[in-house]
Amino acid sequence: METKDFIKLEDRYGAHNYHPLPVVLNKGKGAYVWDVEGKKYFDFLSAYSAVNQGHCHPKIIDALVEQAKTLTLTSRAFYNDKLGAYEKYITEFFGYDKVLPMNSGAEADETALKLARRWGYDKKGVPENQAKIIVCEGNFHGRTITIISMSSDPDSYKGFGPYTPGFEAVPYNDLAALEKSLEDDNVVAFLVEPIQGEAGVYVPDDGYLKKAYDICKSKNVLFIADEVQTGIARTGKLLACDHEDVRPDILILGKALSGGVIPISAVLADDDIMLVIKPGEHGSTFGGNPLAAKVATAALEVVVEENLAKKAEELGVKFRKALEDFNHPAIEKVRGKGLLNAIIVKPTNGKEAWDVCVRMAENGLLAKPTHQHIIRFAPPLVITEEEMFEAIEIIKKSIIEVLEG
Ligand SMILES: Cc1ncc(COP(=O)(O)O)c(C=O)c1O
Repeated sequence: METKDFIKLEDRYGAHNYHPLPVVLNKGKGAYVWDVEGKKYFDFLSAYSAVNQGHCHPKIIDALVEQAKTLTLTSRAFYNDKLGAYEKYITEFFGYDKVLPMNSGAEADETALKLARRWGYDKKGVPENQAKIIVCEGNFHGRTITIISMSSDPDSYKGFGPYTPGFEAVPYNDLAALEKSLEDDNVVAFLVEPIQGEAGVYVPDDGYLKKAYDICKSKNVLFIADEVQTGIARTGKLLACDHEDVRPDILILGKALSGGVIPISAVLADDDIMLVIKPGEHGSTFGGNPLAAKVATAALEVVVEENLAKKAEELGVKFRKALEDFNHPAIEKVRGKGLLNAIIVKPTNGKEAWDVCVRMAENGLLAKPTHQHIIRFAPPLVITEEEMFEAIEIIKKSIIEVLEG
């Protein structure tokens, strides 16, 4: 079978809920992936920042294989001998009292929302069923019914109503709007992405997160950071909130928590918040399984051992500078932090971001447009400086070929 056959097969038997670039991958290592014809690509998506540690990182895969031979799943009906050590490791790693392990990012977001509502009723004294959570316009937190109820993107929510009540959206990066929304005493939490990834890598003004946190504190409102995409070294610090020394009341992690190996997510909080949920009130069959415990521990160890946050910080500065210096008229803007970056492409000669991505793939680099005119660049953080500059040449060449051709 070749590329077109694999695509046909998926198209025939799989739901049409994605629109992939026409490449079929069958191997990955570090910052590279290969297609079924053996062509090698730089991966500049990293599975939406899940593969920060690089494809098939040997230490993470070893942890996976070793544990898979022994015990994979017990459910939480019983204890297992790996979960406790992982819980100790991750809570000390991020500095929280407790962790609640889940699987997907969306599940972790849902968990945080439940925690915040219950905290509002039990601790803040909000009347039953009146809790309100403030979110940001342009957010992306996943695909469940409740999460799309918070979305301002019609592609996410349109045609899937009725929606879950209890959310109010304020413009991102707008402190005055946030402050006003918190005048309602029934507000229990503010949920925010430190950088809006899916929306197109929107980086808020310096000081926004810190001031938003302070406003929340002054109103006894929980500050919840969704670091599913920005967390785990991607933006040049362990957490994007670390850039402003903000410690969220509830921290949501996913994606790179497993290095892209299996779905692992987590919610972290202190006892005052986490212990409002009692046995039987929340959970998941797979959450906290011993396989995930070993994989997540290895994935976090790699981040420290390979100094990935510092690497992302340093390479990110060079990446943005190289594309700014390129100074191409079709690039309206270069933005980002660490190795979470994007360019805004001005449609030219009837060509747009998608055409640039198709050409980049032909030239050996994979990236995907987010919304129509934005291309996100998020390579695995293990990429070397030399490789990154090689990749930048492919990006520049592709832009010239498509938008000047
Ligand atoms: C900030 C953020 N939160 C949540 C999610 C959802 O994660 P998952 O796809 O694992 O459910 C994503 C996915 O892109 C995300 O970027």
